[in-house]
Amino acid sequence: MSEHIETILAQAGNRTDDVKTGAVSTPLYFSTAYRHAGLGQSTGYDYSRETNPTRDVLQQTLAKLENGVAAFALSSGMAAIQLTFSQFKTGDEIVVSDDLYGGSFRFFDLLTDNYGLKFHLWDGKDFNHLATLTARSTVKAVWLETPSNPTMKMIDIKQTAAIAHKHNVQVIADNTFYTPLLQQPLNEGADIVVHSATKYLSGHNDILAGAVVCKYDSDAKWLARNLTTTGATLDPFDCWLLVRSLKTLPLRLAKHEANAKAIVASLQQNDAVDKVLYPGHGGMISFYVHNEEWVNTILQHLQVISFAESLGSVESLMTVPAIQTHKDLTEKQRQAKGITRNLLRLSVGIENSDDLIDDLSQAINAAAETVKNK
Ligand SMILES: Cc1ncc(COP(=O)(O)O)c(C=O)c1O
Repeated sequence: MSEHIETILAQAGNRTDDVKTGAVSTPLYFSTAYRHAGLGQSTGYDYSRETNPTRDVLQQTLAKLENGVAAFALSSGMAAIQLTFSQFKTGDEIVVSDDLYGGSFRFFDLLTDNYGLKFHLWDGKDFNHLATLTARSTVKAVWLETPSNPTMKMIDIKQTAAIAHKHNVQVIADNTFYTPLLQQPLNEGADIVVHSATKYLSGHNDILAGAVVCKYDSDAKWLARNLTTTGATLDPFDCWLLVRSLKTLPLRLAKHEANAKAIVASLQQNDAVDKVLYPGHGGMISFYVHNEEWVNTILQHLQVISFAESLGSVESLMTVPAIQTHKDLTEKQRQAKGITRNLLRLSVGIENSDDLIDDLSQAINAAAETVKNK
């Protein structure tokens, strides 16, 4: 029977322990070692850096969610990104979209400086440029994030994959912002999907985790080997928490999006806001306030929304990308991307939308008043 995503998620882990107990909530296996009945015999579990029953339940759920052949749960989103790059060698070149999570750029700098990889920036729109870049024999992959962080640009994954695949170039998509409920990159043509599961997939600001899902068995093989070798697997308790969290992802995301749309409408009416960036779905909004001098006062006046650096959870969080997530870019790079000091990024939570709108309005008004009276 083919099931809808809500059913797959709500049922994640149920019927995995039918023989022993019939537990509906999947059991949490802490054991790192597994006893063997004899030489050459195994239950399928030997040592938990390689496999763990609780992690298996999570990984199977993640694979279904992204429609992949296999999924890997890691100790952070950065560990997931690192795992996908563990396939590349010195001299390999990668095309990357130009508006990404700042930590990804930091990692690409490390790979450039210490491991001899080369990166080409692509604006996500100019497909002739992409065709020229991917025609280079040394280019091995296109890395993209859509919607982009923090300026919410959308990239056409289908068209990207059609061009890249002409030259046997792999497409890897970071799907953290939209989640598989809004976008399934593997169905669009991507080969590998990455998540910071710290964000929407876990959704409660209490788990640091990453995920990699792949479309082909050939990729699953090296991903499994390299992950077992390097060891950044997700620990059993966080795997269990993440399974539990995934069950409510559809409900959470629907509320994130409804709230975000209400806030976008309100910000667009606010004269103190120059421009609102919203990709059309999901719970992430960026907006430019009229005066960068207001920013600190806005943050200090927020009473419901927290000034804190993450996204995708039930609590609304606000960040200033120029001084937080994207602080390691040069001023020139930030200006070019529109990451100016008056840009605020809001991860909309699942609180009552009127409370969030009121909180934003009073904080923005307070800032405008304070600066006027200086
Ligand atoms: C889009 C995106 N990808 C990857 C990461 C890295 O994930 P983590 O913080 O879980 O290592 C982040 C973190 O903010 C992110 O926003």
